[in-house]
Amino acid sequence: MSRESDFREKYQSYADFVNEALAGFIPAVDIRSRMLRDAMEYSLAAGGKRLRPVLLLACCEICGGSIEQAMPYAAAMEFIHTYSLIHDDHPSMDDDDLRRGKPTNHKVFGDGTAILAGDGLLNSAFDIMLEDIRNAVMHGEDKAQILSRINAAAEISGAAGVQGMIAGQMTDLMMTGESNQHCVDREKAGACLSEAGCSDEEILLYIHANKTGAMIRAAVRAGALLAGCSGERLDAFGEYGEKIGVVFQIVDDILDVTGDEAALGKKTGVDRMLGKLSYPSEYGLKKSYEIADRITSEAVASGIKAAGGNEEGELFLTRMALDLASRLS
Ligand code: IPE
Ligand code: IPE
Ligand code: MG
Ligand code: MG
Ligand code: MG
Repeated sequence: MSRESDFREKYQSYADFVNEALAGFIPAVDIRSRMLRDAMEYSLAAGGKRLRPVLLLACCEICGGSIEQAMPYAAAMEFIHTYSLIHDDHPSMDDDDLRRGKPTNHKVFGDGTAILAGDGLLNSAFDIMLEDIRNAVMHGEDKAQILSRINAAAEISGAAGVQGMIAGQMTDLMMTGESNQHCVDREKAGACLSEAGCSDEEILLYIHANKTGAMIRAAVRAGALLAGCSGERLDAFGEYGEKIGVVFQIVDDILDVTGDEAALGKKTGVDRMLGKLSYPSEYGLKKSYEIADRITSEAVASGIKAAGGNEEGELFLTRMALDLASRLS
């Protein structure tokens, strides 16, 4: 995989596997609550880059594992990510009306249904992973195989939770300007933030590393864990994931200023309108690009370590980091 086109092809082939498998993981829902399934399916099928499942599958393969063994965890990640988008877009949070090129979930199904569809996707993610672990036990897999699955599930659960994505989203809301003050009690938020005693720069990095970085780091680590990766190599995967995760959100912030709505499939100018703390708002565009570039170089170095001499893996992780830093959608 020496050329950019080879990377794109490889990425697309992982994304195709994910797209083919996803629908099969949507649970059956009683006819009386069918609307819930429709709403879950709507946002899942709306598309998206499938970045997190692609990373999970790729990192599992780089460490000698297979796409088949990793797919339930890849699907679980995309379920959780999709739920996070539905809730992020909800009127009680960012109040967005376009996502993945389509009207947001609450615009189509109503505010309450969108909350439940998000809840449904989140819960289903855990059903999917637990079912895979149960099957492994029932089929008499050895202890190491079972443990690697539990480790991957715990990695994903932790990253999605109150020390990861949910925490990042909380602080994001606490730092959101007056324009959507119904999202959070400003007095309580102010007291909490002043107790933390951090600079805006520190808070900004905390928000990005958690609301977005945590799930991307987990995708990378869970893929490696499923293939039995441990020790320093696993740490290198973690560093790589953390860095590309932060860059991903810095670029998301930049694209909110400079990006094209049609290419992004979502509205731009939202951060400014809502008074979000973002890289462009804190540092300006030029410095934001510079910070993203610096962290990307660090990510590449970690990726090379993580690949552990697997030449194809090294190229994939390098191209991925560079691609995410220069993406336009
Ligand atoms: C959007 O994520 C939300 C952020 C974490 C910035 P993506 O840009 O990965 O969205 P999709 O999955 O491609 O729609
Ligand atoms: C959202 O960040 C991160 C999530 C956990 C969903 P943003 O609010 O910046 O994401 P977009 O720009 O709406 O996709
Ligand atoms: Mg948001
Ligand atoms: Mg948003
Ligand atoms: Mg954004």
